[in-house]
Parts: sequence; C-alpha cells; structure tokens
Amino acid sequence: MNQVIETLMNHRSIRKFSDKPLNNVQIRTIVESAQRASTSSNVMAYSIIGVSDQVLKEKLYAISGHKHVKKNGHLLIFCADLHRLEQLDGIEHTENLESTEQFIVGTIDASLAAQNAVVAAESLGLGICFLGSLRNDIQAFNDVLELPDHVVPLFGLAIGYPAEIPDIKPRLPFPAIYHENQYIPFDKQKHFIQEYDQTMKDYYESRNSNNKQETWTEQMSQKYKKPTRMDVGPFVKSKNLNKQ
Ligand SMILES: Cc1cc2nc3c(=O)[nH]c(=O)nc-3n(C[C@H](O)[C@H](O)[C@H](O)COP(=O)(O)O)c2cc1C
Repeated sequence: MNQVIETLMNHRSIRKFSDKPLNNVQIRTIVESAQRASTSSNVMAYSIIGVSDQVLKEKLYAISGHKHVKKNGHLLIFCADLHRLEQLDGIEHTENLESTEQFIVGTIDASLAAQNAVVAAESLGLGICFLGSLRNDIQAFNDVLELPDHVVPLFGLAIGYPAEIPDIKPRLPFPAIYHENQYIPFDKQKHFIQEYDQTMKDYYESRNSNNKQETWTEQMSQKYKKPTRMDVGPFVKSKNLNKQ
C-alpha cells in the first residue's frame, strides 16, 4: 500500500479538536490541493469560504448544533457558485446557468474539491469532519455568510488537530457497492447488507465512544422516517439555481 492509499484507508471523522489553529501555510496547502481537483469543463463552479472568526463560528454553531463547528483549527464552507460565471463578460443566457444540470455541476465541483481538501489535511496529520448540519437552516446558513444570488452553501468542513482518535467505521461490503457491467438487483445484494448490519452492530457495541445497539438498516429506517430539510429545494430555487 502506498502512502496515499494508507491515508485514505485510515479515514475517520474527527468530532473533537484541540483549540490550536491551522497556520496560513497549512490552510493554503489544503485549499490549493482542493483547487487541483478536476472540475467540469474547467468552470470551477464553487467557492470556499474560510472561517477563522470565532464570532462567525458561533453563529454557524447556532445553526448546526455540532460543537466541532466552533471548536476546530479552521473551518471551510463549500458553496456551489454560479455567480462568478454569471458576472463574466459575454454570459448572456443566464437561464443556462440556472438549470438543474448546472446546479449539479456546482455541487459535484464543490464536493470533489472538498474531498481533495480532506485528503490533503489528513495527509498532514490533521483530522476533519464534514458538516451537513449547517443545512439545518439553509436560509440562515446563507444569511450569516451573506452569499449573493446563484451561490448556495452546501456543507462545512471542520479541520484541526484531533483530540480523539475514534475507531474506523466499517463500510458496506465491496460487492454491495461495486457492480460490474450491470446493476445488481437488490435481492442479490441483500445478504451483503445483512452481513453489514451485523458488522455495524458489533462496531457500535464495541467502539471506544458513543456505544449503542443498532444495525445499519435500523439507522437508515430511522433517518428516512420523516422528511427533513424540505426547505432546501425552495431555497435553492430562490437563489435562482436548479430552476429547470
Ligand atoms: C456531506 C457530508 C455531511 C456530513 N455532515 C455531518 C455533520 O453535520 N455532522 C457530523 O458530525 N458528521 C457529518 N458527516 C460525517 C458522516 O457522518 C461520516 O462521514 C459517516 O458517518 C462515516 O463515518 P467516517 O467518516 O468516520 O468514516 C458528514 C459527512 C458528509 C460526507
């Protein structure tokens, strides 16, 4: 195994960081690594907002409720950003930028950049945690950051010096995810899921923090029991994205 793959295989989300801030060289290295990610047609339809201001972090914490939003070494916010393109000289057909397709482009570009940032940070010995919880109130998330039209805040990425090393969380078995040449029907995947349910139950029972008794199936059925964040769709449309 080479070092890159070792870094990838060693990933676990870190939810407790020390107060030590990242220095400017680390931040720049992480963001420039993010920028090296592939991007659809080189459009770079995303922006990254670095949050070092503790007051701003507190405001974001009030939205998310997750402590690692306010206690970390640095916080990055990833946005789908069609605004920069819309402002360019010669862009006349704004409706092209306002399509579902272009919103997907923005979210993919931002996600690829974010994952590059993760790998860069982890390779430097830092820990990370994504923060979708900032979409608990996407309008407030947007307003705190004063984002213009055609920019949608997607998620945060807390980075810092780990103050905990949780166990690595198991993933679905390889054959449940990787389908060769044709999609494997659910009934043929089912036993891999049952296998994973047992793996996750054992993992939750034995891990070094936040023990519980739950299978993956139970966790997912709980998660999808009631609709959540149904305001996201109308919010995105209000930013003039994902319109048609
Ligand atoms: C887009 C995205 C949003 C996430 N949002 C949160 C979050 O708001 N809070 C949190 O504690 N973890 C969050 N996570 C972390 C996931 O819960 C975590 O990656 C998953 O449980 C797998 O665990 P692992 O990263 O330790 O392997 C998020 C992950 C992703 C990819």
